[in-house]
Amino acid sequence: MLTKHTALALLAVGALSGFASPQESLVVQESDHRLAADHICFDTKPPAPQIILDDGVFTGIRKGDTDQFLGIPYAEPPINDLRLRQPKPLPPYGGKYDAQVMGKSCAQQKMTLPNGLDLKLVEELGIAVGRMVPFLAPEDEDCLTINVVKPSNIGPGSNLPVLVWFYGGGFENGWTAMYDGGLVVSRSIEIGEPIVFVSMNYRLSAFGFLAGKEAREAKIGNLGLQDQRLALKWVQTYISHFGGDPSKVTMWGESSGAMSVALQLVTNKGNQEDLYRGAIMHSGGQIPVGDIENGQQYYDFMVEKTGCKTAKNTLDCLRRAPFKTFKSAMDESPNFFAYQGVILAWLPRVDGVFLTEPPQHSILRGHVSNVPVITGNCDDDGSLFAVSTINISTTADLRGYLKTHLMPKAKDEEIDLLLKYYPDDQRAGCPFDTGLRNALSAQYKRTAALQGDFVFHAPRRFFLKHRGDKQNAWAYVYKRGKSTPFIGTAHGSDLPNAILGKGELMDYSIQFANNLNPNGDKGLGVPWPQWNSRDPKLIILQDSDLFPIVHGKDDYRTDPLNYVANMSLLYPI
Ligand SMILES: *[C@@H]1O[C@H](CO)[C@@H](O)[C@H](O)[C@H]1NC(C)=O
Ligand SMILES: *[C@@H]1O[C@H](CO)[C@@H](O)[C@H](O)[C@H]1NC(C)=O
Repeated sequence: MLTKHTALALLAVGALSGFASPQESLVVQESDHRLAADHICFDTKPPAPQIILDDGVFTGIRKGDTDQFLGIPYAEPPINDLRLRQPKPLPPYGGKYDAQVMGKSCAQQKMTLPNGLDLKLVEELGIAVGRMVPFLAPEDEDCLTINVVKPSNIGPGSNLPVLVWFYGGGFENGWTAMYDGGLVVSRSIEIGEPIVFVSMNYRLSAFGFLAGKEAREAKIGNLGLQDQRLALKWVQTYISHFGGDPSKVTMWGESSGAMSVALQLVTNKGNQEDLYRGAIMHSGGQIPVGDIENGQQYYDFMVEKTGCKTAKNTLDCLRRAPFKTFKSAMDESPNFFAYQGVILAWLPRVDGVFLTEPPQHSILRGHVSNVPVITGNCDDDGSLFAVSTINISTTADLRGYLKTHLMPKAKDEEIDLLLKYYPDDQRAGCPFDTGLRNALSAQYKRTAALQGDFVFHAPRRFFLKHRGDKQNAWAYVYKRGKSTPFIGTAHGSDLPNAILGKGELMDYSIQFANNLNPNGDKGLGVPWPQWNSRDPKLIILQDSDLFPIVHGKDDYRTDPLNYVANMSLLYPI
């Protein structure tokens, strides 16, 4: 199946941005979103679809049974003095807009391959690189654009549900052009549950997630999440023109996109301001992040590398730095294949504005949007990240890693207990249920289990434990692709099923957007039992021709996951 290729889609995404030619980093200052389209003439093709928003005429493109309006700006370009500022809404549209191609991606952080990774393994894992090339989009600091894909035959008044996609990529990479919304819209027509698809670019890495006390004081933390919020508001204003119903919006994301969705659920004390009514999270929940000053060293790093150290106002200096200078400083900062692994340099953090408390505290206080959710994990979510920490070869090394990176403030006895919950036994490690196989190094499977649980599995379980009886929730674990060497059902393995191809998760998502229940109302697909704490059921998507989807219990690694969640409450990252 696709799994082997896509398991390393993430690696590929990373590798690609690293290998991209330097010219692609050149910022294009003038916006080319507003090209007149009236010179285009069509001979045999159907006429290009048009939409009027305010006084602006947008010319889109017809593909199959969908009309696509791509690369629509939804905020003032975040360039010049608007760099490192809250996204600024646009004045009403006017004039003609070419909306036939997706906008440029936001500046991508360069990715380096994991330290000390064997080249043969890279070959094995990196098969995806070639496949991903067509998806690579040029980047630009001016990147805040949104895309809408709708069934061709619907228009204003159709009031279709809306799925809004949040891409993943570790808050450092990701772009909308990788996801062809046409696929999900076509599928929604096929199964008689049509939807409108939306995706937006949001700022990444140091542009979107600058940390430090300076960022807090200037109220510019979590800009990437603020971009997403503004895009959700854009949907409220404009989606009815496309035939979408602004009261039927479901947020939908994978990895850091799912984490973004999860954080949208807890911002504003959980008040969703009628922006959405449901959420779907593939491999990502409320990541246990702490104070924005936990990222001070990365702010200081940017200041140092851009030559801003002696500036009176370092933030102003960062704003004035040439794009290339800023970007190359950001490229030198640790990326998600750096040794620190899942403890990413650039993360959402508690900034006092978007996040006013660690997300786990929000959940305990009930500061969560009370909307139905789908939330799931790939079984081996941690394996990709542990490839970077492959040189951890003894328990002492692992202890050192935990004390330096994962939980620097934890007490020795707490780390001891953590290591007991994650024993030095290949059979208990990740990829799970693979016996003694896949031991890339002596502590690899153990480290992978710990990293994956800390950032991916425990937040999902924690959310359900505290919210699963209060709001409707459906859970899954994806186990397909288990036999992929070393990484098993790695992080990202469910992407082909959920959005890159037409799989069961896509159907469930479409039905959820329509009915607020993944089972829909037509009895399509394997019934998915709702989660509740007395009998916490989930579905397992597994490698089996006869039983590709089975019911299971959400009770794996109960104590370890509880303990990890307890630790993340005490020591958010
Ligand atoms: C593994 O390599 C990284 C990067 O070179 C280094 O920082 C780290 O200390 C090493 N860890 C061990 C346990 O040797
Ligand atoms: C986690 O914390 C809760 C509340 O303090 C406690 O009841 C529970 O035993 C802890 N779980 C583990 C595995 O330590």
